[in-house]
Amino acid sequence: MAITLSLEGKTAIVTGGGRGIGKAITARLAEAGANVVIASRKLENLEAAAAELAERPGRVVPVQCHVGEAEQIEALVQRTESDVGQVDIVVNNSVTNLGQGPSTEVTEAMLDKMMNVNVKAAINLVHRVVPSMRERGGGSIINMSSISGFQPQPGGLLYNFTKAGLNMLTRTWAREFGRWNIRVNGIAPGLIKTDFSRYFWEDEKRREALVGNQPLQRLGQPGDIGFAAAYLASDEAAFMTGQTLIIDGGVLA
Ligand SMILES: NC(=O)c1ccc[n+]([C@@H]2O[C@H](COP(=O)([O-])OP(=O)(O)OC[C@H]3O[C@@H](n4cnc5c(N)ncnc54)[C@H](OP(=O)(O)O)[C@@H]3O)[C@@H](O)[C@H]2O)c1
Repeated sequence: MAITLSLEGKTAIVTGGGRGIGKAITARLAEAGANVVIASRKLENLEAAAAELAERPGRVVPVQCHVGEAEQIEALVQRTESDVGQVDIVVNNSVTNLGQGPSTEVTEAMLDKMMNVNVKAAINLVHRVVPSMRERGGGSIINMSSISGFQPQPGGLLYNFTKAGLNMLTRTWAREFGRWNIRVNGIAPGLIKTDFSRYFWEDEKRREALVGNQPLQRLGQPGDIGFAAAYLASDEAAFMTGQTLIIDGGVLA
């Protein structure tokens, strides 16, 4: 008998669900029956992803949202609640990356933007949906971290610390929300082939230097992450909270 994982009747929000890892997560959640609202700035990307994933049992609904703007998070949740349902699953996946290079060259504007999109967005979204999850008896929150949140990437001050910040949000929220059956977990990928990580994989020499040093000597694909998110979102993970799953081809081993 095939192993199945059901998210039927659940409503999910996946930020940055229109491409890359977020799209792979959306595909798996919708395959398992969840209705998934995908939210990011570029509506046409979201609409294209929704059309591509339209054959899944769950609906995929595009909603334009700049997650760094608190009022747009509020509008996203209101729209989800009115058009789809009360939120059961949140995947904080949107990301930006500024200020790569020497730490002393990081500006306040870069710091503010990285905090807004990578950290504050998650806080605003989670704090908005938790009261309703609590009333309805539970929920699942997934924060997309990175191995850079565990082992600093050279020249990546802001990225490293925003991802480490998400790891601590995961653990803090897990402790606080556990009594309401709201589980909070994270996923920390290694190098995955997406637009975001293009610098690391497009140049063959750079890619081989990285991938050749991994125990599993290949580039990760978005599909390597999607099922893990579906698992964490589901009742199969009912006793799991406060953890960040590392999916990195063995790098941190
Ligand atoms: N790829 C990797 O190697 C890797 C490794 C470790 C961790 N990760 C993590 O995995 C997650 C997904 O990354 P990815 O590689 O799939 O990146 P990606 O393909 O570049 O996707 C990033 C997503 O974030 C959205 N986004 C950016 N700024 C936004 C904003 N202000 N408001 C709303 N959405 C915004 C983008 O959509 P719009 O442009 O439409 O706004 C896009 O959908 C991230 O949290 C990343 O840190 C990735």
